[in-house]
Formats: sequence, C-alpha cells, structure tokens
Amino acid sequence: MLKPVKVIDAYCEKHDKKYKANVYHVFNHESVQPCPRCHIENTRAMAVASQVEQARIVISAREKRERDEWQAKQLKTSIPELYQTRFFSNYRVESKAQQSALDICREFADNFSAYRRSGGTLVLAGTPGTGKTHLSCSIANQIIQQDYTAVFITVVEMVRKIHSTYGTSEGEQEVIDRFSNVDFLILDEVGKQSGSLSEQNLVSEVIANRVNHHRPNVLLSNLELEKMKETLGERAWDRLTEGRSTLVDFNWESYRSRVSGDKKLQQRPA
Ligand SMILES: Nc1ncnc2c1ncn2[C@@H]1O[C@H](COP(=O)(O)OP(=O)(O)OP(=O)(O)O)[C@@H](O)[C@H]1O
Ligand SMILES: [Mg+2]
Ligand SMILES: [Zn+2]
Repeated sequence: MLKPVKVIDAYCEKHDKKYKANVYHVFNHESVQPCPRCHIENTRAMAVASQVEQARIVISAREKRERDEWQAKQLKTSIPELYQTRFFSNYRVESKAQQSALDICREFADNFSAYRRSGGTLVLAGTPGTGKTHLSCSIANQIIQQDYTAVFITVVEMVRKIHSTYGTSEGEQEVIDRFSNVDFLILDEVGKQSGSLSEQNLVSEVIANRVNHHRPNVLLSNLELEKMKETLGERAWDRLTEGRSTLVDFNWESYRSRVSGDKKLQQRPA
C-alpha cells in the first residue's frame, strides 16, 4: 500500500464538498485523493466499463463460434468455396426477371419448414453465369443455420458417389438413402451427365424417394425444359412435376465478368 505524504484540506467542485484528502507521491508528482463520492462514482464507472468489455468479449466469442459452426455446416453441405459467401443480400437485381427469381428463391428459404413438410421443387434453368448456383446456395446458406441438413452436388458426382461404394463400409443403398433423406438437395448441372440408363435409374430412384417423402429440391440446368425431361428421364420428371414445382427461367447476361470487381461477393452478411 502506498503511504500518504501528507493530508490536506481539499474541496470538490463537482460535489460542492470539503474533505480531508490524502496526498500521495506517485512517479515524481503529487496525487490528491478524490472526494468520497467521486471515488464511488469512479469505481462504479470502472466496473461498468469492465462489464461492457466482458460482454463484448463474450459476444465476439459467441459470434466466432456461430461462424465456425456455420462454416462447418457449409463444409458438410459441400457448398463450393466460391459460393460460401453467396447470399440473397449480395445478389444484384437489375431487371424484373432477376427480381422475380430472387423473390421465388427467398420465399423458398423463408418458408422452408413448410416446404420440408409438404415438398416442393424449384427448377432453375437458363444461360450460364446468371446466378442459378448463387441463388440455390443462398437458400442452403440460410436454411443450414436453422439446423436443416442440405447437400449440394452435381448429378455426375452423385452418381459417381453411389457407384464408388464398392469396397467401402457404406453400401450403395446407404448412399442412395443419404441423398434421399437429406432435408434439402441441390442437384447441379442436370444435363451434363452421360444420360445412360443406369444413371437415369439412380437419379430417378433418389428423386422418387424424395418426392414420396415430401423432401424439397432444387435442380439447376443450362438445358431447355424438354431436354431436361429427356436427360432426367420421363419417370423422374413426372415425379418431380407431380409435386409442387416451380420453373424459373434464367435468361439474361452473364455476371461472371463482373464478379472480381464486386466487393460484396467477398463478404458474409453482418
Ligand atoms: N445478380 C448477381 N449479383 C451478384 N453476383 C452474381 C449475380 N449473378 C451471378 N453472380 C455471380 O456470378 C458468378 C456466376 O454465377 P452462378 O455461378 O450462380 O451462375 P450459374 O447460373 O450457376 O451459371 P452456370 O449455368 O454456368 O452454372 C457467381 O460468382 C455469382 O455469385
Ligand atoms: Mg451453376
Ligand atoms: Zn467529488
């Protein structure tokens, strides 16, 4: 404890109060003790400041944890790295058609619990670079935060995964079940597959399982509707359109040449 060098008669203007103040010698200068009420106020202010600081640390730790959990879910969903920062909020709208595409996808995400109960499929078809993958990943990025499971995969990759079970502990049926049972499935690049019959049968089976259990889907393609029907096979297509399905036509200029200049695409929403 520091010892006072002297005691003086002091006056506090703030509290209009005379008091006996200890004077301390601190680093070559004299420090006069504040009045008792100033002392209490200072102590309280310091306590509040420290509580605010504590709360800030707790919040930033929680934010970090939530962000980490979210990223882990994105990884589990196999959302491609580029699309981990794609959200409704950074999809630029420059035409009525884009606004309508955004509205439809956002409605799907916002009401996902209803779609999860009664099923529904969005078919996003059209020209390259128009934001089909962007908006479908925006749906996934939103719903995985509510603890729904999702998988983003191309048709070719899904078929390859089902076929590649040979010699692993997971059987073919288990992989088919995995794609059938996930809450939300995004099937990308419909039409880039070979179109072979065994491929069609596998895709058909997954789609039939999903439609039968009212599980929601998004299909992405550069093909015309008729061509999509052809490559997926009549059976799968009928299943899909039997349930609630919405076709969105993406037909405007590609955004790809503008991506590197768009800072908003680099960020997650606050
Ligand atoms: N309206 C938009 N606003 C902001 N970014 C966009 C917009 N449209 C597309 N992009 C971005 O442009 C790039 C290409 O879009 P995306 O990959 O979603 O297109 P796509 O329709 O899936 O194309 P493809 O048919 O070739 O797969 C992505 O980085 C995407 O985030
Ligand atoms: Mg795409
Ligand atoms: Zn005082």
